[in-house]
Amino acid sequence: MRVAVVTGGSSGIGAALAHRLAERSYHCVLIARGRERLELLAGETGCEAEVCDVADRAAVEAAARRIGERHPAVHLLVNNAGVPGRAGFLELEPERIEEVMRINYLGGVWCLRAFLPLLEAGAPSAVVNVASVAGTVSGGPSGPYSASKHAQVAFSRTVSAELAPRGIRTVTVNPGLTDTEGFPQDRFLDHPVWRHAVVSAERVAAAIVAALDSGRGEIFVPGYYRAATALQGLAPGTVTRLASRRPPGRYTRDR
Ligand SMILES: NC(=O)c1ccc[n+]([C@@H]2O[C@H](COP(=O)([O-])OP(=O)(O)OC[C@H]3O[C@@H](n4cnc5c(N)ncnc54)[C@H](OP(=O)(O)O)[C@@H]3O)[C@@H](O)[C@H]2O)c1
Repeated sequence: MRVAVVTGGSSGIGAALAHRLAERSYHCVLIARGRERLELLAGETGCEAEVCDVADRAAVEAAARRIGERHPAVHLLVNNAGVPGRAGFLELEPERIEEVMRINYLGGVWCLRAFLPLLEAGAPSAVVNVASVAGTVSGGPSGPYSASKHAQVAFSRTVSAELAPRGIRTVTVNPGLTDTEGFPQDRFLDHPVWRHAVVSAERVAAAIVAALDSGRGEIFVPGYYRAATALQGLAPGTVTRLASRRPPGRYTRDR
């Protein structure tokens, strides 16, 4: 039996991935902070639920110990838990800027370190880091979120060289606009052109499973977002100006 640990498994991309992995005979352990929803989804998919805040290093280490007592080997860790910022460096509350960094970036670091012995026991195994196109393109109205995702992309790309000799491969996943509960995209979905750029959580989950099958190390979902990243390297000033234009409409379902 292959065991997968999916952080942020109670909603959006993590929940869609839990369904896909269960179909592929993975036994999943889902991690999130909110117990009720986590246990509901775990019950629906035959997964285990483990309540844990990935930003809390001691809590992550304790959760990994508990999971290790039940499963001596883990074959897949998906660092997916994340929160939005949706305001700039000058507007967002300082506490939220810290929280965004602790969850989106450090959460993955603490999970990888805590689950490393179990991933080594399960080798050949894999770590998937769900980052973002916002981690490869600078600009736009959500600077603190983008900065946390840049840190996560750098973590994911660099740690792959440390993990490879241990029999653990790394997949960096950079989704674009994905309509989920935590990241509602209604202002784009209401726009005649932008709505075509919005994808579903199920599409991202399918792309992650395909990347695991194909052996790719980094993917963009949809793939055309890679062009924006290439342009960022070639003409960073232009990309920053374009990305910083006001997005269409207003969010009506923001939280
Ligand atoms: N949706 C997009 O447009 C988009 C685009 C690019 C990248 N991403 C990335 O994709 C990932 C998943 O996002 P999503 O759109 O699926 O969002 P979502 O629907 O809000 O799901 C987020 C999940 O993470 C969990 N979570 C949040 N903070 C946590 C913490 N401190 N500890 C443990 N679990 C935590 C949430 O549960 P609890 O709140 O109960 O803990 C929930 O299960 C995130 O890393 C996000 O940055 C999203």
